[in-house]
Amino acid sequence: MELLLRSPLDMHIHFRQDAMLDVVAPLSAAHFAGGVIMPNLIPPVDSLDRLLWYTNEVRRAVGTHRFDPYMTLFFRDYTREELVAAKPHIIGIKLYPAGATTNSDGGVKEVLSMKHVFAMMEELDIPLLVHGETHGFVLDREREFCEVYRTLATAFPRLRITMEHITTEAAVSLLDEFENLRATVTPHHLLITLDDVAGGMLNPHLFCKPIAKRPEDRDALLAAALRPHPRLMMGSDSAPHPIDKKESAGCAAGIFTAPIILPLLAELFEKHDALVNLQAFVSDHARLLYNVEPPTTTVRLVKESMIIPEQYESVVPMWAGRTISWRVAEVS
Ligand code: NCD
Ligand code: ZN
Repeated sequence: MELLLRSPLDMHIHFRQDAMLDVVAPLSAAHFAGGVIMPNLIPPVDSLDRLLWYTNEVRRAVGTHRFDPYMTLFFRDYTREELVAAKPHIIGIKLYPAGATTNSDGGVKEVLSMKHVFAMMEELDIPLLVHGETHGFVLDREREFCEVYRTLATAFPRLRITMEHITTEAAVSLLDEFENLRATVTPHHLLITLDDVAGGMLNPHLFCKPIAKRPEDRDALLAAALRPHPRLMMGSDSAPHPIDKKESAGCAAGIFTAPIILPLLAELFEKHDALVNLQAFVSDHARLLYNVEPPTTTVRLVKESMIIPEQYESVVPMWAGRTISWRVAEVS
């Protein structure tokens, strides 16, 4: 059995910088025709100078692969002039609540105090990409943040808002309430629950923000992805950390999936008899929602078993050592 995917896109990726960038960028670019590159470096990508520098770094690391990096700025209190200057170089601006996740200390303390920036983004048609978690109890953070999404979607009806890496039934329901809300969902949140992270021996390689939730949350996410919901896109949130930052006291949040995303999804969609919907979930919806035209590539997946490598350089991928039933045979 085989499956052809045209120009798959990963709408949420962490590429990092320096040596890590050189390891992970080619792994994404080998399978994907484009992707949204997140700006949470230290220091963050929050000026035109840093954005242009980072764009060059990413292009250099991607090398000869046909891959369009869709760049983002790290949200702060930008002026209109800054937004106008950045617009041709970005796909959107990523908002992190301060301290919500890896490298987000410079994020926003009070989201709703930034309405003047959202108004300018709405006027200039710059999408807002959001890490939607409050500072409440860890399992409730996303559900609580849904109130903020509701307020923003109502106050700025023409602002295109992406709820990044949704993990709850509550967020799935919100998608149907507001036309201007869209969302990404990760392969891992379609596959695991909190039990896989902490129900038995603690598994640091499945620890990420937002943390995996309850079975009913996973089921709601999976149903929306398989359907496939027209405003839901695949965004892997592939977030590499070196092994010593994961297998340690004080484990860094982030799951590395970049090289195994398409095989994982082929296996999952096949299991649910929904392989025909995978193209829409991993490419078509993103193209329509962001109006992007990535390079034309074809990925041929075959139903042949693959053992997930133990490590890619210093990074341990999700489910290292496991056998999965699909692999990428060819990209043309
Ligand atoms: C991401 C990272 O490591 O940059 N970590 C994560 O757990 N997902 C940041 C993020 O997207 O939250
Ligand atoms: Zn992320």
